[in-house]
Order: sequence, then structure tokens, then C-alpha cells
Amino acid sequence: MAKLKKKQFDVITIFPEVVLPYVQASILGRAQKAKLIEIRAHQLRDFATDKHHKVDDTPYGGGPGMVMKVEVFERAVQAVKGVKARVVLTSASGKIFTQTDAKRLAKYDQLIFLCGRYEGVDQRVEDHVADEALSIGDYVLTGGELPAMVMIDAIARLIPGVIEKESLVRESHSDEGYREHPQYTKPPVYKKWKVPEVLLSGDHKKIEEWRKAHQKE
Ligand SMILES: C[S@@+](CC[C@H](N)C(=O)[O-])C[C@H]1O[C@@H](n2cnc3c(N)ncnc32)[C@H](O)[C@@H]1O
Repeated sequence: MAKLKKKQFDVITIFPEVVLPYVQASILGRAQKAKLIEIRAHQLRDFATDKHHKVDDTPYGGGPGMVMKVEVFERAVQAVKGVKARVVLTSASGKIFTQTDAKRLAKYDQLIFLCGRYEGVDQRVEDHVADEALSIGDYVLTGGELPAMVMIDAIARLIPGVIEKESLVRESHSDEGYREHPQYTKPPVYKKWKVPEVLLSGDHKKIEEWRKAHQKE
């Protein structure tokens, strides 16, 4: 079998210490040990050139809070970017990330996630540095680290070898509008809560019919 090329994920953030513990645990951690993927977190401040490592400044036109500077993000991206890379800006006002985006992004050799903080990021990052801006939902978080981790998690599990191939077949969102049926495990009765009889029957045809009929809305 041909050796799979390792997929590279890079997160550019002022809080790399938030990202690393999550991606080093469980399935993502195992996938990195198996060299299927590599997830790196880079300190954005390392790309600031002033002695205070400044990454933000006051907004032009006035207003509350601080805006993250274009030049530090641009320098960070230039430093880590490889050939077949896609740069994703995390943004509360971006397009909503879906399973279709996860499948599309899984095809790139390298994905670079830019994490905003404070009032957000200078618009020139979205216009000139990033290839696209994605949101993980219609709410505002304090930073882009959780959105980056959510997207990396959803994308990484689609990469061959990261999880069992069978688990990816007919799972929720694998097709437009599809939701998986309810799942049960032992014991068959807990308190008075019973597993549906048909699932214990061993009749695969009936089980399949039941599962189809009980796909979640
Ligand atoms: C406090 S938010 C800035 C919100 C911005 N002022 C607005 O109204 O859209 C700081 C950063 O968190 C990230 N962020 C917040 N909510 C997000 C979401 N739902 N999806 C993706 N990124 C988000 C972005 O990187 C954003 O620049």
C-alpha cells in the first residue's frame, strides 16, 4: 500500500497552550503518533517585530476594544505555509462550517487556522491573507481557538486511517439531511428503560428497517 502523506494542521494564535492539550489527546493524539496528521500551534506574538510583541491596536474610526494587526498574521502565514495549503480565518461573521466543508478541506495537504481575539481581526487578513473565513455557529466566542479545534477535529477524522472507515459510512451529515438512528449498548434494561426489542432480535432485515424508520429529524 502506498504510504499516506501526513496531513498538516497549523493554528496561529496568542494562546497555543489552549490548543495543544486537546489535540494531543485521544484520537487526534493517536493519529499524530501514527504520523497520519501533525497539528502545530504557533505563537502569533513571535511574528511581531516590536520589542513588546504587540499583536493588536486601536480600531480606526474609533470604537471599543482592540483589533488584531494584519502584518503579524501575514508574517506568521508566510513562515508556516507550504505548497498545497489553505488558510482559514476563524470569524463569527464567516460562512457557517458544515460537514461538506470538512470533506472539502480534508483534501488539502496543509490547513492553517488563524485565531482572532478581542474585537476581531483587521479586515485585510480576510481580504488578502486568508483564503476563506469560517464560523462554527451563530454566536460569538472570546477567541478563534475553539472554532479552529472544532474544524480540525471534524476534518482530521475524515483522513484515511484516523478512525475506522466503517464509522464514516452513513453517519450523521454524511449525506445532505441524513441523521443517524439512535444507538444503544448493554445493559438491555436499565431501571425501567428498555432497549427496543427488535435490536436484540438478531434479525438484520428488521433491524435495518427499524433504523431507517428511526433516523433522527
Ligand atoms: C470576540 S470575537 C470578535 C467578534 C466580532 N467583534 C464580531 O462581532 O463579529 C474574537 C474572535 O473570536 C473568533 N470567533 C468568535 N466567535 C466565533 C465563531 N462563532 N466562529 C468562528 N470564530 C469565532 C474569531 O476569530 C474572532 O475574531
